[in-house]
Amino acid sequence: MQREELTKEICQNLIKEAIQTLPYSYTPYSHFKVAAALLAKSGTVYTGCNIENASYTPTNCAERTAFFKAVSEGDSHFDAIAIVGGKEGKVEEFCPPCGVCRQVMAEFCNPKEFFIILARSPEEFQIYSLEEILPFGFSPEHLK
Ligand code: THU
Repeated sequence: MQREELTKEICQNLIKEAIQTLPYSYTPYSHFKVAAALLAKSGTVYTGCNIENASYTPTNCAERTAFFKAVSEGDSHFDAIAIVGGKEGKVEEFCPPCGVCRQVMAEFCNPKEFFIILARSPEEFQIYSLEEILPFGFSPEHLK
C-alpha cells in the first residue's frame, strides 16, 4: 500500500485490535507484554502476542506470531502492522520491533510499501515504512 492509503481509521482499528490482544501475551519471565495486529492485503487482520518459554530462546515475539499465523493460513501479502507493548502490559512508550522481527517483515513485505505503526494509544501513534526501520536490508531479492 502507499502511505497515503494508510488512513487514520485503518491505523486506529489495527491499534485497537493489538490492544485487545495484549492480555493474551504470555510473559512469566520478562513481564514485558507485546501485541501486534497485522493487516493482510486480503483484508484479514492477524493478531499476535509474545509467547515466552522457560528455556528463554524459544520465545516468540508478538510480530512474528502474527506473521506466522497469517503465512500458515496461506496469507502472505501485507500492508501494515500495529504494535503495542509495555512492562506488565502498561503501554507507556512506543515499542519498536526487534531486529529479528524486522527481518521476518523483509521476507514478506515490500520495504517501501509496508508500514509499521507504533502506538501508545489509538490516538497517539507513529508510522514508519519498513525501509525506514530496516535500511539496506537483506531480502529474498538478494538470492535471485
Ligand atoms: N518482544 C516482542 O514481542 N516484540 C519485539 O519486537 C520486542 C520484544 C518481546 C520478547 C520478550 O517476550 C519480551 O518482549 C522482552 O524482550
